[in-house]
Amino acid sequence: MEIIIVERPEQAAPLVADAYTALLARKPDAVLGLATGSTPLGVYDELVRRHREEGLSFARASAFTLDEYVGLPADHPERYRNVIHRDFTSRVDLDPARVHGPDGLAEDLQAAGPAYDAAIAAAGGVDLQILGIGVDGHLAFNMPTSSLASRTRLKTLTARTREDNARFFDGDVDAVPTHCLTQGLGTIMESRHAVLLGFGLAKAQAVAACVEGALSARWPASVLQMHPHATVVVDQAAASQLT
Ligand code: F6R
Repeated sequence: MEIIIVERPEQAAPLVADAYTALLARKPDAVLGLATGSTPLGVYDELVRRHREEGLSFARASAFTLDEYVGLPADHPERYRNVIHRDFTSRVDLDPARVHGPDGLAEDLQAAGPAYDAAIAAAGGVDLQILGIGVDGHLAFNMPTSSLASRTRLKTLTARTREDNARFFDGDVDAVPTHCLTQGLGTIMESRHAVLLGFGLAKAQAVAACVEGALSARWPASVLQMHPHATVVVDQAAASQLT
């Protein structure tokens, strides 16, 4: 595991964008693993800037998102497919037909997980997976005690997650879906390069537990200790509990 500590979050964006730039130069048809949430937004903005000003092209790339709510209407603004479109993929030349997410509207939700893993495999696997970390160490919707070997699957959202995410649904916890489809930790572990970002004091305990603590399902991101190529990029606040 490579740990990079930057002073301020803004300094992480060019570093991580460099990894995308190098990958796309080497492999223009790379498979990108995308995360929603606030953490990667600076990286996406920097990639958009490089696309507009420096000709960085995603025209032959494809993308797979980490997770999706179950049952949100196709045009719902909080559907992660729409969030990633708004935040990133519509702002670069990624072909929308090659931007994939778990199908939260699938008739057979149990089958949707394995189908998504199969689609990732058919695309050749994820080359570069960007990840945010939850304050409890969660990755995607793999909350504490999720199996470290889990695959993409249907999950019930915890009461805590629904309360946390109610802010995106006008504060109405009842509007937050009860279920999700999420890549499993085992799925995420198959990415060729995993880049975990964490910014701010609120993430400090999770960063320390996942980077320096015991490998444990209680801290899902600790699974990255077993990843053959994981990079952790944190600001000083998020790094403050590392020894
Ligand atoms: C994103 C995701 C989540 C977030 C995590 C951190 O697709 O699945 O695990 O990465 O909740 O969220 P932020 O970045 O908003 O702090």
